[in-house]
Amino acid sequence: MNSNKRPETMERITTPELAKTFIEEQVKELQEQIGDKKVLLALSGGVDSSVVAALLIKAIGKQLVCVHVNHGLLRKGEPEQVVEVFKNRMNANLVYVDAVDRFLDKLAGVSDPEKKRKIIGAEFIRVFEEEARRFDGIEFLAQGTIYPDILESDGVKAHHNVGGLPEDMQFELVEPLKLLFKDEVRVVGKALGLPSNMVFRQPFPGPGLGVRCLGAITRERLEAVRESDAILREEFAKHGLEGKVWQYFTVVPDFRSVGVKDGKRTFAYPVIIRAVNTTDAMTATVEDVPFELLQHITQRITTEVENVNRVLYDLTPKPSGTIEWE
Ligand code: XMP
Repeated sequence: MNSNKRPETMERITTPELAKTFIEEQVKELQEQIGDKKVLLALSGGVDSSVVAALLIKAIGKQLVCVHVNHGLLRKGEPEQVVEVFKNRMNANLVYVDAVDRFLDKLAGVSDPEKKRKIIGAEFIRVFEEEARRFDGIEFLAQGTIYPDILESDGVKAHHNVGGLPEDMQFELVEPLKLLFKDEVRVVGKALGLPSNMVFRQPFPGPGLGVRCLGAITRERLEAVRESDAILREEFAKHGLEGKVWQYFTVVPDFRSVGVKDGKRTFAYPVIIRAVNTTDAMTATVEDVPFELLQHITQRITTEVENVNRVLYDLTPKPSGTIEWE
């Protein structure tokens, strides 16, 4: 599949049977393209890179080298799930890089959102490059480019994950999903045996929790974002909102307010809950979450999450707000 244009005759992959056919064709093509060479993949655990990984593991097994960079800005349980699914269950050649301190040190004291994004992006490429240099004889770089990436960029934009590698590290690209839409990628992922919560997960920004821990990131507030996000996701799943709401998360600002706990005065951070629906992320409406559920989540967050004494619900559609706060 070398063209960047989806043929008009290409059938939409909507069923496990169609996914199976696609997988069989791709496995054959990938084996022909790659032969006995090695392929490198930055595996974030997001939908696209996970499906590419599963497809390549099926096609070339241990010739695929997956690098999972834990930058400390992932959601609770995500790095563990990547190791569990790919290393333990699929027996992949997976390099797990604990780069948490490195990222948080670089981000210390930086409060401008765009600077934070740039630091996270640049550091990611640096860590990935260092790992890539440890392996000899890698000729291919796999990427989770999907058709909207190609359409949005008129065929020139690479997938956002690992563009920007240095000149001396130019690999031949392997992009088996480049003609698929997101819903098709999910069907293929399911057919490859990936867990539902990996394949049907809500969108998650590249800079991760880094743009939800507002202002200069501290470990204390980052943990408050991660823990409150985990509670929100757990409660939404329990109450049937997981597949219904397009995107939902928590945000922790960098100011505190006065509260009271066990008869004692507290001075702690608020958690802001955001839950929105959209079709294209250009505009968004706010989910009408049942008030009782919000109260229950508030109760859990204020008792279970350290350094938090208030919970707020963001009622702002896009516009005037964006979906993320930074
Ligand atoms: P906004 O906040 O612009 O978000 O309304 C629209 C969608 O884009 C996601 N988003 C990002 N995704 N890198 C990403 O990969 C980013 O820097 C980034 N910023 C926002 C956001 O989560 C929402 O789905």
